[in-house]
Amino acid sequence: MKVGVYPGSFDPITNGHLDIIARSVKVFDKVVVLVASNPDKKYLFTKEERVNMIKDAVKEYGNVEVDSTDGLTVEYAKRIGSKHLIRGLRAVTDFEYEFQLAAANEFIDKDIDMVFFMSHSDTSFISSSTINELYSSGVDISSLVPLSVINGYKNKK
Ligand code: COA
Repeated sequence: MKVGVYPGSFDPITNGHLDIIARSVKVFDKVVVLVASNPDKKYLFTKEERVNMIKDAVKEYGNVEVDSTDGLTVEYAKRIGSKHLIRGLRAVTDFEYEFQLAAANEFIDKDIDMVFFMSHSDTSFISSSTINELYSSGVDISSLVPLSVINGYKNKK
């Protein structure tokens, strides 16, 4: 079985991430969405909140699982028998960061490959922090995120 691991901060998950998931499930038998940590970031939602919002957003898929890790994504992938990490590319500005991350992952394990999907143009401007900013400014973001995220914000109040 070909398993792809889609790691990210997902603070919160957006329709941009869901677009990547929708396309990944056509390529992999199973996709594991992995909530991982970027030590440079301060998160709005706890890891558990992020996992639960994603679980609700992907419940239509029979072949998508959601998990979290405090360790390296490569180690997680190895542990579950996956050799592929999935990432999305929104713009050329993402490339440098992804290139660096791919090199670090390759240094950890040469057997792991990164698989990239290009974001659709209607979601390529979205990032989680943009969504957080729009929401806190009172902008209607319901067309940019799943319902579980709207509820997540409401529960934060
Ligand atoms: N649609 C919308 N937004 C997208 C997107 C898409 N398709 N793809 C990325 N983004 C956004 C995210 O929302 C996020 O926005 P933000 O910066 O405003 O929060 C930004 O792009 C980048 O996020 P993400 O892809 O989640 O990367 P990250 O830097 O937050 O996290 C990890 C990267 C968690 C995967 C990485 O740090 C990691 O693997 N950590 C575990 C430790 C490890 O293995 N490190 C690697 C070796 S050192």
